[in-house]
Amino acid sequence: MLQRSLLRWYAGHQRNLPWRKKRDPYWIMVSEFMLQQTRVETVLPYFERFLKLFPTLPSLAQASLHKVLKAWAGLGYYARARHLHQAAKIIWRNFAGKIPSTKKKLLSLPGFGPYTAGAVASLAFNRPEPALDGNVRRVLLRVHGLWKSVPRNRLEKILEKFIKKFIPAGRASDFNQALMELGALICIPSQPRCPSCPVKNFCSYQRGGDKGKKRSGKKIRKEVWTVALVEQEGRFLLHRQEGKGLLAGLWQFPIVRVNKKGDAGELKKVKELKERKALRRMLQEKFGLRIKIKGSLPPQDHSFTHIQVTMKPFLCSVVRLSSALPVSKNVRWIKPVNFSRYPISKAMSKIAALIPDPPPREATSG
Ligand code: ADE
Repeated sequence: MLQRSLLRWYAGHQRNLPWRKKRDPYWIMVSEFMLQQTRVETVLPYFERFLKLFPTLPSLAQASLHKVLKAWAGLGYYARARHLHQAAKIIWRNFAGKIPSTKKKLLSLPGFGPYTAGAVASLAFNRPEPALDGNVRRVLLRVHGLWKSVPRNRLEKILEKFIKKFIPAGRASDFNQALMELGALICIPSQPRCPSCPVKNFCSYQRGGDKGKKRSGKKIRKEVWTVALVEQEGRFLLHRQEGKGLLAGLWQFPIVRVNKKGDAGELKKVKELKERKALRRMLQEKFGLRIKIKGSLPPQDHSFTHIQVTMKPFLCSVVRLSSALPVSKNVRWIKPVNFSRYPISKAMSKIAALIPDPPPREATSG
């Protein structure tokens, strides 16, 4: 039977992952938020550090968002951190600090979609709910030869039904994790390791069905951002992004999204002049600053979920400082040595790393 072979294989081959040490709902909730769109190896050090800082749900609920974002800085997709923090507060306030065990209640919390709700309900509370992530979806599609025969819009519902029927009684936690593990270690996207697979005898893919047929991936959008490194006496202008965008709640250098369409065939020089002009205008309008662009630094690429960004950094200085520098709750002038005190995205850290060291100070006597 497929289930028995899979569970036996999982017992002997599962990775020793920290959130599996004990079935602690809080650990599982934190790990599942971190693992959304992020690889296990990347998550490991963040998970350990996060739990040292926030060892329990109340400690997370009572922490400031600033501190939570800071612990998350570098992991990307910061909405996850904001939602996790909000969810912890709601659980603390409305559920007496106990993470709900049903998928329905979990779905009412910020940041919980069908996958995360199913994962926490099954992994932490052994509820027979599907936890369909990319790995599990691939395993099921291959095993059951559904790769091309199921219309895309009905796929999710069909797979959920399938898996619900399949979960062995009382073993939802292990079974779902075994499927995840199979997808991560054996049934990998390209060149799956079929000879080592514990369910090969039950698998349509292994029998030659639908090999190599890929569903089309999601479209990646390309963007170009110009980034202003505005310096004033060794400090740089950073501001905190408000609202709900990609970098909301994080500190960043001012940017302008460049209109990629522009005029086709426009000369590079003309295009760059326009970019510089747009950067100057934004700094004037948003921060009341007149700046001079002193030079450019090498462009940096960064990938967000569905956006591939090329960031073009410009070193700028402030001209004719007629009034005080703008400073507010969301606008600061920060020395590079102090950047690490602020939650800054990985994308912006790449830019910060380009800032040249200040010239050494002259030795003073006396
Ligand atoms: N990916 C998502 N959740 C996971 C888990 N609990 N273990 C390993 N990989 C995962």
